[in-house]
Amino acid sequence: MKALVLIGGLGTRLRPITYSVPKQLIPIAGQPMLYHVLDLLPSDVEEVVLASGYKAEAIDRYVRDHPPRWPVRTVREVEPLGTGGGMRNAADGMSDPFFLLNSDVIARADLAAMARRRAERDAIGVMALASVDDTRPFGVAALDAEDRITAFVEKPEPKDAPSHWINAGLAVWRRSVLDRIPSGRPSSFEREVVPHLLDRRVFGFRLAAYWDDAGTPERLLHAQRLLFDDGRGGPGTVPPGATGTGPVAVLEGANVDGAVFGSYVTVGRRSRIGAGARIENSVIMDDAEIGEGAIVTGSLVGPSVRVLAGSRVENATLGAGPS
Ligand code: GDD
Ligand code: MG
Repeated sequence: MKALVLIGGLGTRLRPITYSVPKQLIPIAGQPMLYHVLDLLPSDVEEVVLASGYKAEAIDRYVRDHPPRWPVRTVREVEPLGTGGGMRNAADGMSDPFFLLNSDVIARADLAAMARRRAERDAIGVMALASVDDTRPFGVAALDAEDRITAFVEKPEPKDAPSHWINAGLAVWRRSVLDRIPSGRPSSFEREVVPHLLDRRVFGFRLAAYWDDAGTPERLLHAQRLLFDDGRGGPGTVPPGATGTGPVAVLEGANVDGAVFGSYVTVGRRSRIGAGARIENSVIMDDAEIGEGAIVTGSLVGPSVRVLAGSRVENATLGAGPS
């Protein structure tokens, strides 16, 4: 099986950071979001096809410099085509069936078991479903007693949500679904295609462990906590020269001498954390500088951002504006 990864979104909810970096390259628990997504793929996947567009060069560079376990091919969109258009644009040579992955979801999920379920049920698709309290930002499924999906509504009003089981952005589909997507124009797979596939048998696969969509600052930091708690953020120990609790992931070339770490922090490459600065529940990206004695909590600090000594940054997303 091949995997089709949707990676062309603009990441508007993570601006201003996504003006300079595609969201999939934001480090979470020490690795880019994309790394954690691909990490879910079975090792025998034949090829990973990245349906990319926005900041495709940066994604290509990352994949070249950090080759994943599978052969990777990029299919670029000139203009964003949406989830449906992106899939259709990458349809040539796709396997039957194939894995479909959103590139901003952090989860523990057994994709091979999903593929087996699809074959057993002779279904056109199987979608991983996560249980959430607030269904508004997601696609919501109604299920029958056999977990067959009987209705699917993308981003419904709460009163119209048929359940609290939402599309987790990880699925297995027969290749034929790609023929149902209009070509040559943007479209939403979830809104325009999925509801029409239900009569061809689509099953839900309820995720029992953790899941989140890391597409907003708050949920990205939540995803980082999930990954560290699951041991997927490396050892997480506070490096010599710094103090505090951790878990923390400090990347190559960062200088954290004298820093004080609370829980759940990533410090990007070549970043400098000044003496006495306190960092908690945050991501500090590459080449950033946190001045002495500053306090940073619940925040995303973009690449090369400078936080002045003694200042306080709380629940903020900092980055350069559009260039
Ligand atoms: N190639 C391409 N082109 N990819 C795109 C485009 C595009 O124009 N627009 C978005 N994507 C990619 C994003 O990069 C992301 O990986 C994925 O498609 C989903 O887009 P989001 O913008 O993150 O969608 P969402 O989070 O609002 O909703 C989707 O994900 C939810 C789960 O996280 C839907 O699939 C929902 O049904 C689902 O519940
Ligand atoms: Mg998303």
